[in-house]
Amino acid sequence: MGATGNHLCFDLVEESQKRNPGASICAPEGVGGFKDAAILQDYHVLPQFRNAMAKFMGKVRGDRVRFDPDRIVMVGGAAGAHEIIGFCLVDPDEALLVPTSYYPGYYHYLSRRVGVKLVPIECDSANNFKLRMEDLEAAYEMAKQNNIQVKGLLLTNPSNPSGTILDGDTLRSIAAFTNENNIHLICDDVYSAGKPDYVSIAEIVDEDRKSGGSNSLNLDLIHIVHSLSKDMGFTGLQAGIIYSYSDVVVNCVRKMSSFGLFPAQAQNVIGSVLSDEEFMVELFLGAKTGIPAEKRRSGGRNVKRFFSLLVSDKNDGTVLFKSCLVSRY
Ligand SMILES: Cc1ncc(COP(=O)(O)O)c(C=O)c1O
Repeated sequence: MGATGNHLCFDLVEESQKRNPGASICAPEGVGGFKDAAILQDYHVLPQFRNAMAKFMGKVRGDRVRFDPDRIVMVGGAAGAHEIIGFCLVDPDEALLVPTSYYPGYYHYLSRRVGVKLVPIECDSANNFKLRMEDLEAAYEMAKQNNIQVKGLLLTNPSNPSGTILDGDTLRSIAAFTNENNIHLICDDVYSAGKPDYVSIAEIVDEDRKSGGSNSLNLDLIHIVHSLSKDMGFTGLQAGIIYSYSDVVVNCVRKMSSFGLFPAQAQNVIGSVLSDEEFMVELFLGAKTGIPAEKRRSGGRNVKRFFSLLVSDKNDGTVLFKSCLVSRY
């Protein structure tokens, strides 16, 4: 199998575009917008697009968390997002810890482009490649002994290539660890949609905020990389997202996004699709999947439009999801 992107929602996208032809400068109804799209050169991105994206990111996480549109920075794919966040947070020869096995693109985006050292945290197949705290601590200590300056931990959840999904407790312990050691936590969430067991770092942040305890997380150290390449199969449109809880990082990555601006026409088209209520209801509740309502998942977690054709009757997306993850390199 050679696809990492979800190709199950293109019929819905087409229907949505037919309902809103004005969003495309290639349609007679939208051609009048050509000039605006052609001259737009604003790294803030159209507000209506950021609003739609924030809503989508919440929906993907079962509406259990809300995202602030002002913290969304659009860049050229998750690839561009990693490069930019690498430039902002890590100096050449400093390091990020990365659980194995990891997506080999990180080597290209971070090591070759930015000069970041990737320090592996060995994860074991016997443990289903789940990150164990003792392995994280050991890798961190070993790096320190070798005089490697560790600036953060890069977590892919769900993981490519293993498909492993971290549970909430592990994620909480990881966030506590990075917080205590004053290092960044970068979560690559590009495969988050439609995974029944998925917990986002955004939920852990919300939980922490609500608890208001003395051990609160330093949110300046937490950042999310997202993209529509996988959830929606929009690889060719390169809609990459950096969402940071740090004002300084948002400010910095927004300015740096001008090196790979997200094109205005893609903003128009994707923004119109994601703002289309009918599309969103169909995507997340899946009335047209042909699956009886009682078998569909509730709470915005409809696996059927997310890799569903690869999934068994049990609706357990994980097993086959694993087998369909491949690397581009
Ligand atoms: C874990 C992970 N992060 C980032 C990317 C890059 O995604 P994009 O196509 O949005 O650049 C990929 C692509 O395969 C990936 O698997």
